Amino acid sequence: MNLLRTTLIASAIAATFSAPLALAQTTSAAAPKLKVGLMLPYTGTFAALGNAIENGFRLHVAEQGGKLGGREIEFVKVDDESDPSKATDNVNKLIKRDNVDVLVGTVHSGVAMGMAKVAKDTGTLLIVPNAGADIVTGAMCAPNIFRSSFSNWQPGYAMGEVMAKKGLKKVVTITWKYAAGDESVKGFKESFEKSGGKVVKELSLPFPGVEFQALLTEIAATKPDAVFTFFAGGGAVKFVKDYAAAGLKKTIPLYGSGFLTDGTLEAQGADADGLMTALHYADSLNTPRDNAFRLAYAKAYKLQPDVYAVQGYDAAQMLAAGLSAVKGDMSKKAELSAAIENAKINSPRGPFTLSKAHNPVQDIYLRQVSGKENKVIGIASKGLVDPARGCKS
Ligand code: BEZ
Repeated sequence: MNLLRTTLIASAIAATFSAPLALAQTTSAAAPKLKVGLMLPYTGTFAALGNAIENGFRLHVAEQGGKLGGREIEFVKVDDESDPSKATDNVNKLIKRDNVDVLVGTVHSGVAMGMAKVAKDTGTLLIVPNAGADIVTGAMCAPNIFRSSFSNWQPGYAMGEVMAKKGLKKVVTITWKYAAGDESVKGFKESFEKSGGKVVKELSLPFPGVEFQALLTEIAATKPDAVFTFFAGGGAVKFVKDYAAAGLKKTIPLYGSGFLTDGTLEAQGADADGLMTALHYADSLNTPRDNAFRLAYAKAYKLQPDVYAVQGYDAAQMLAAGLSAVKGDMSKKAELSAAIENAKINSPRGPFTLSKAHNPVQDIYLRQVSGKENKVIGIASKGLVDPARGCKS
């Protein structure tokens, strides 16, 4: 058990034994535990992302003494393997077999779409702690569906504006062929071409493939001014290393949504140095809020946090906001949703509110890799609101 949790538990025990009357009252009126279904990838290219999200979520719960809205939290976990074909079965297991009260997941956009469909059909509260699938807070938006992370459109759109301002004209994009890649590129293209740039080639390979060689050869032959990319997790590590090994880093600047270099810098080493990306978090924010979070996370897990840890932490904060408004009574669905919808989340990334479609309205930072950090070098887009296309609520 880590130091932080040990300390929190010890102080909870001390408080309990110094107040026997309070103990008697709590025991007789104790609400059943609140079951949180964590549906995350614990294997495959996104495994580290799933673990960081869980760590962040648990950290906030531990900071609240193990309870949200007065209810103790119990976790039920499923490894979704970032496999959309298993999403419906996995989420149904959590709802029907394990009777979870709330779903928290996931990382992969395709899996999240499956989760959102079941959540919408069953009315189960869903908080998405990463997957950016635009549709989740677009056409599928619902009173019980929230996101603590971003829409795929957001970092892409912000980076398109930055790259156009740099005077870049001819860009090649490269990504995995699935919702997150397609939508990141679409967001990028929207703002980049609006400002006079041109996407001259859109390259892709199936998720989670890492056979980049032929595509890198095509980039070299096309000679664009720059490359924009979306990759994450293990795939991002390999892409950045292969890009440098192919000699492209020196001749064709590489940009991306920030997942390209988040949680990956140890493995990417010097090959990531200098890369510029856009994201709603960075390692050098140096605010009292973020410093406290980073310290607590490092103490608890002996690891540095990344954007995924922040999103998990904030998913727990959002759940806490809802649960405390209804004093842990999940049957008060409308009240619970309204409380989350209207919450101002005191996030390590900076405070954020939620849009009508329940996606964070947030600053997107421009970052540059220096040493083992994604350092903030500016704001790519201030208070960026996802357009929530197709959301009718
Ligand atoms: C996605 O599938 O939405 C996603 C996966 C990893 C990082 C960011 C987005």
